[in-house]
Amino acid sequence: MITPVLLCGGSGTRLWPLSRKSYPKQFVPLVGDETLFQASAKRLTGPDYAPPIIVTNSDFRFIVTEQLIDEGIDPGAILIEPTARNTAPAVLAAALWQAQTDPNALMLVAPSDHVVPDAHAFRAAVEVGCQAARDGKLVTFGIKPTHAETGYGYLELTEDIGAAETRVIGLERFVEKPNSEDAETMVSSGRFLWNAGIFLFSVKTIIEAFRAHAPNLIAPVEASVKQARADLGFLRLDPESWAKAQDISIDYAVMERADNLAVVPFSAGWSDLGGWDAVWRESARDELGVATSGRATSIECTNSLLRSEDDSLEVVGIGLKNIITVAMPDAVLVADVSRAQDVRKAVEALKAKK
Ligand code: GDD
Ligand code: MG
Repeated sequence: MITPVLLCGGSGTRLWPLSRKSYPKQFVPLVGDETLFQASAKRLTGPDYAPPIIVTNSDFRFIVTEQLIDEGIDPGAILIEPTARNTAPAVLAAALWQAQTDPNALMLVAPSDHVVPDAHAFRAAVEVGCQAARDGKLVTFGIKPTHAETGYGYLELTEDIGAAETRVIGLERFVEKPNSEDAETMVSSGRFLWNAGIFLFSVKTIIEAFRAHAPNLIAPVEASVKQARADLGFLRLDPESWAKAQDISIDYAVMERADNLAVVPFSAGWSDLGGWDAVWRESARDELGVATSGRATSIECTNSLLRSEDDSLEVVGIGLKNIITVAMPDAVLVADVSRAQDVRKAVEALKAKK
């Protein structure tokens, strides 16, 4: 059995104004009818999968339960982080929790804000990685890069990518979020895949990896799990010990330092929806490349995204080219597709104004 661990504590500022601090992108139906969180939870169900462990924060706890009930999914545990400490403490907490009952279990750590359209192919890739995970490997999932993205981790293979078929390949090293020059070099070398941000390992292996590479996290996270307080079906990690845990991602804390990494290449479609340009690309588009959603109408627009998230608000675009328009009841974003990553700046600018 594989226990899914779903991380859903991020805030997704690049998808403002739809993604908000109080209601981030993973809980919103961005592509299709289900929310990204629901699709992620559903993707990891079936005979091989145990009920998922959800790691989130207090603000999102009822959104999480509501959305799981909607899908008929019964969680194994919902761990509540007192404050966001990034993904390393979140994963370690889930592993230590699971170790209390089954230290040999396999865990599949997955973000809750990605799009993986072919769930069947994805579960098949996970199955391919299971034996390596049982044998003590930290298994990653690799995506063939299309450009020199600096927001991802890179996986250097011990052999040429070749057809990148679904099998286990050894890893030379893991490079998290390189600068653009290094990203260019890695992509053109043909020996690197993008890290999908999804990990498969046994509980024992990941705890050992934390002990070896991030030992300072063990004591505070262990204490916060041991002293966790049950509260209406949620498990609240102890705030005092949690506050002492370093704020760091699992990529920097463990993956960049470990030497027992492996990768299963995955080519059946993946996007982390890291911006409105990615949402536009993943959405159904007409023959002119226009994606509309809600009360939105396109008149001779090309390669644009027009969304109305308010039933009483009509959005009409005329002759737009490469434009993103997202209308919410209290905010409207209009941006060039090529500037999608700068939406983060809008959020910062608005924060500074407050
Ligand atoms: N519970 C919890 N607590 N979840 C968190 C926290 C936290 O403090 N911080 C982030 N998350 C969740 C996010 O909601 C997301 O689902 C997942 O953990 C990954 O965090 P991101 O912040 O989105 O990571 P990233 O996109 O910068 O980088 C990761 O993903 C890339 C692929 O999308 C890395 O693994 C990269 O190497 C990878 O390429
Ligand atoms: Mg991300």
